[in-house]
Amino acid sequence: MSDQDKKFKRLFLFTGLGLVGIFILIQLIPVSRENPAVTQEFQWNSAETEALAREACFDCHSNETVWPWYSYVAPVSWRIAGHVNDGRRRLNFSEWDQPNEDADEIIKAITSGEMPLRDYLLMHPEARLTEEGTQALVDGLEQTLANDPPVERQGRPPRRD
Ligand code: HEC
Repeated sequence: MSDQDKKFKRLFLFTGLGLVGIFILIQLIPVSRENPAVTQEFQWNSAETEALAREACFDCHSNETVWPWYSYVAPVSWRIAGHVNDGRRRLNFSEWDQPNEDADEIIKAITSGEMPLRDYLLMHPEARLTEEGTQALVDGLEQTLANDPPVERQGRPPRRD
């Protein structure tokens, strides 16, 4: 083996070890995977609507997230925890006593195909809604929202749109 080859071999080895080291170190960065207490459940119009929402939305829009094994492995864990935090902040079916201001966008989010998130469907093919599933979820959510509208934020006039 020439000196040049030896140098390359060493460079490869150290780069590899460096990457493994970085991978191990990033595992030490804390990631919050909490499921806070359910404060008030959404009053579902039917068990079917609830089942559809549980399958397609609950991992990011409730306090009943099922955290898969890969949500414990950085850097994937950062992305998943970020989605759950952002998702809960906008719409949380487990905290219906809090203002869920994005609730008026639920139907659009589903019919536009924006929700459930594409990333999520890669790992959860069972959450992909069929055409009938989409229709049933939309109809059910419309009825549920009419019966159990989100509370208004204090100190602001009710929205009229
Ligand atoms: C993998 C996590 C995940 C799943 C599953 C998911 N969402 Fe979301 N959702 C998010 C995130 C993250 C946001 C905020 C950022 C964004 O809009 O992309 C969001 C935003 C929303 C919003 C706020 C308006 C908007 O478009 O930003 C609504 C409404 C919504 N989601 C409804 C749903 C419904 C209904 C389902 C189930 C059919 C669902 N989501 C499934 C993560 C998710």
